[in-house]
Amino acid sequence: MKTIMIHEMPDHVGETVKIGAWLANKRSSGKIAFLQLRDGSGFVQGVVVKEVVGEKIFAKAKALHQESSLYITAEVTEDERSSFGVELQVKDIELIHEAVDYPITPKEHGTEFLMDNRHLWLRSRKQHAIMKIRDEIIRATYEFFHMNGFVKIDPPILTGSSPEGTSELFHTKYFDEDAYLSQSGQLYMEAAAMALGKVFSFGPTFRAEKSKTRRHLIEFWMIEPEMAFVQHEESLEVQEQYVAHIVQSVLQNCPLELERLGRDISKLEKIQAPFPRITYDDAIEFLHEKGFDDIQWGDDFGAPHETAIAESYDMPVFITHYPIGIKPFYMQPHPDRDDVVLCADLIAPEGYGEIIGGSERIHDYELMKQRIKEHNLDEDAYEWYLELSKYGAVPHSGFGLGLERTVAWISGVEHVRETIPFPRLLNRLYP
Ligand code: 4AD
Ligand code: MG
Repeated sequence: MKTIMIHEMPDHVGETVKIGAWLANKRSSGKIAFLQLRDGSGFVQGVVVKEVVGEKIFAKAKALHQESSLYITAEVTEDERSSFGVELQVKDIELIHEAVDYPITPKEHGTEFLMDNRHLWLRSRKQHAIMKIRDEIIRATYEFFHMNGFVKIDPPILTGSSPEGTSELFHTKYFDEDAYLSQSGQLYMEAAAMALGKVFSFGPTFRAEKSKTRRHLIEFWMIEPEMAFVQHEESLEVQEQYVAHIVQSVLQNCPLELERLGRDISKLEKIQAPFPRITYDDAIEFLHEKGFDDIQWGDDFGAPHETAIAESYDMPVFITHYPIGIKPFYMQPHPDRDDVVLCADLIAPEGYGEIIGGSERIHDYELMKQRIKEHNLDEDAYEWYLELSKYGAVPHSGFGLGLERTVAWISGVEHVRETIPFPRLLNRLYP
């Protein structure tokens, strides 16, 4: 008999089927055993009744250890209380492999222990739900950009230049040359936008940041759209439509996962474009009114500042027009002011912090050249980038959305370490 998957079971009510599964948990008495089974596509309860299966199979069921792998033959019956609306009346159990002393038991464990066992922790209901939401966000990302005429482009991972400053680069040798792991594909995406108009990337990025916070990973995944002939305000409109689209997609396609995580979905249901905007100047004034005397015009915001600003809205909020001194070299200056640039960070609600950084880009050759000099960047490494503003330069804008922070916000999980399968953190390269 061919095996089916748990998520397909609603189509097989009344039939006898075979599934391959792991034993997530088990309860039993003298006459009946309840097996919590999982196969990756979902979780289902298998009921083993001694009178039905006989002594031998019942004894086998009672002796099963957590995470043992099995083939189960069973009849699918309706059960309104379960997630897929079905239950299994077990007829036969074939043990594939017995797992002995599985380290992650149903009791509470400390974070470090769970992180050491990340390769196994991924099997838990909570981690399963988070990974499904991550997958849905990725699916909805491709859907949104393809629906809107963007082309997927893959920038390189090994690079010779650095868009976001030089202090947080991972250095490696590239034969006899120096190379760096990409911290953003942006500059390459700008080149691609000049060839294909509207483009987006999705890939890993690396930052040797010495930050140990609930928002920082060393290796994280970014979605980076770049758009020719698009200026600052229009870019914000794309951003709010994109973020609203992924939130609504998760609501629609991951209701079981959101429920398992205990997410308050009324907060997500409100997320619709347009999003509020506040200028950096007004944000500073607002913080001073709130009693934050530690921050002055020209300083970058820390997590407490972002959280205080976000708390005034039940939507993500754009903070726009930051001081030129705290932003990268490529941002387009404000047309009427030389102290701020045409950029925005998007701050998620509920304290999840910045999920997008973006801006309009400089497209004036002389100005770009001057900025590269002012920032002490290696002019040879940026020669190709400078040529973009030499041959048919156009106004263009783009942004980068951090996938893990977005997953954390939408899932309602506290720390980004649970939003990526194998997190790379300040003190963690294992497993
Ligand atoms: O604001 P950032 O540094 O912007 C850029 O890299 C631009 N070049 C993107 C672009 O315009 N194409 O990073 C973008 C986003 C942040 O808003 C945040 O969500 C995420 O990437 N991010 C991180 N996520 C997890 N861990 C880290 N260490 C992160 N650093 C940035
Ligand atoms: Mg940023």
